[in-house]
Amino acid sequence: MRIAVVGSGYVGLVAGACFADLGHQVILVDNDQEKLAALKEGKVPIHEKFLPELLNRHRGHSLTFSDDLHAAVEVSAAIFIAVGTPPTEQGQADLSYVESVARSIPSAMNGYKVIVEKSTVPVYTSEWIRKIILRNAAAPDSFDVASNPEFLREGTAVTDFLYPDRIVVGADNERCASILAAVYAPLTTGSYYQREDAIPQPDRAQIPPPLIITSTKSAELIKHASNAFLAMKISFINAVASVCESVGANVQQVCQGIGTDSRIGPRFLNPGIGYGGSCFPKDLMAFRAVARESGYEFRLLDEVMRINEDQRHRFLRKVRSALWTLRGKRVGVLGLAFKGGTDDIRESPAILLVESLLQEGCQIAAYDPAAQAHAREVLNPSVKFASDPYEAASGADALLILTEWDEFASLDLDRLHAQLKYPIVIDGRNLYDPAAMAARGFTYYSVGRAAVTPETLPLETGTPARKITNS
Ligand code: UGA
Repeated sequence: MRIAVVGSGYVGLVAGACFADLGHQVILVDNDQEKLAALKEGKVPIHEKFLPELLNRHRGHSLTFSDDLHAAVEVSAAIFIAVGTPPTEQGQADLSYVESVARSIPSAMNGYKVIVEKSTVPVYTSEWIRKIILRNAAAPDSFDVASNPEFLREGTAVTDFLYPDRIVVGADNERCASILAAVYAPLTTGSYYQREDAIPQPDRAQIPPPLIITSTKSAELIKHASNAFLAMKISFINAVASVCESVGANVQQVCQGIGTDSRIGPRFLNPGIGYGGSCFPKDLMAFRAVARESGYEFRLLDEVMRINEDQRHRFLRKVRSALWTLRGKRVGVLGLAFKGGTDDIRESPAILLVESLLQEGCQIAAYDPAAQAHAREVLNPSVKFASDPYEAASGADALLILTEWDEFASLDLDRLHAQLKYPIVIDGRNLYDPAAMAARGFTYYSVGRAAVTPETLPLETGTPARKITNS
């Protein structure tokens, strides 16, 4: 099928590359000339596993890049809108980019087209897109608007796209639904997974994935409700972690105990320094705004956001309680990205914490395997960037672990100990077993578990450190 994807941001670029891998002819449209030139030259603008392979495989053949939306619409049966929907000051999603694409489509329509919302948008957006297209003189039966929310996570975006838990298609009639079903047929029939060159299957893949067809409004709500639920799960376990700290329980044991209930499940139950990224914070505000406009005060979401914010302040208090005064203290920081596996620092709790520590007069030496270049653009120039975790720890009063990168879970602890001025580790991601850390001579603070020192080895041993499995 001939497909246009408008917007070459995270979702658009990954979706375009994956559609090409499914065998479609894809034109990726963007008006950012620099980005287009870079993509045509073979550059990959985001750090994402398997994306370079897919772009290499299809660039110039089944995946082309263009700034000509008109021409792309003319030749395509389905047009996926994947432009940005940043938050406004009031927390709503700014839909002006979506509207501007919708306005440009009618003049290029030369037959039946399906216009698909791929960006995360509030309920009623599909109705608005339809109105805008009609206002610009398209015939009512010459197009349909569908919603096809995307559930990919940064860091595992390509595998999430090609091995999804489900594919949700919101379409209000058969004709439109069948076009989207055809787009995803290589996944839903399983034919893609038979191919020798298929992107490798991750653990826990549901093959073939189910296709869930709903109304467009339901599909729009599914996206917001999914993200809100996942954020709620994280805030819930962060709140439980705070109770664990007060009563002397161990949150990892609690997670194991509740996560094995199949109704709850173990995923997205990792306590930490709060969620960040370009999706959860923005989508929660947008969902709350949608609910409010429709007459429902979704106070649960307020609390999810409050707990998330509080989690960062609690961590900061932990740093203070470990170091007493902060002015002039040298602090090593491991991790700046909002989560492991990505170079994205948008709404990163690690960046917010580093900014707070700087404000309190700390000197920071930071290391991140992928996000340093982006962090350099936003952080105060006094921050030193190290070339590995040990350099960040060198001469530091304490080491903070702020992002759940795999490589931070397997540090050479003796080497680390030798580098630090004082062997203090404050772990915001629970990557280590407290007993093991104390036995190696560290004073170790983590989230939802008692702090330990070499002198006060905890009684409980064998408490699981967090396993990093991309949650
Ligand atoms: C999230 C959703 O997981 C995707 O399904 C969705 O498609 C995407 O938003 C989106 O709307 O585009 P993403 O923001 O890439 O994906 O990252 P997540 O893996 O969800 O992590 C979000 C934040 O929560 C990170 O800061 C992470 O460290 C934190 N987190 C995650 C926890 O603190 N604990 C956990 O157990 C899981």
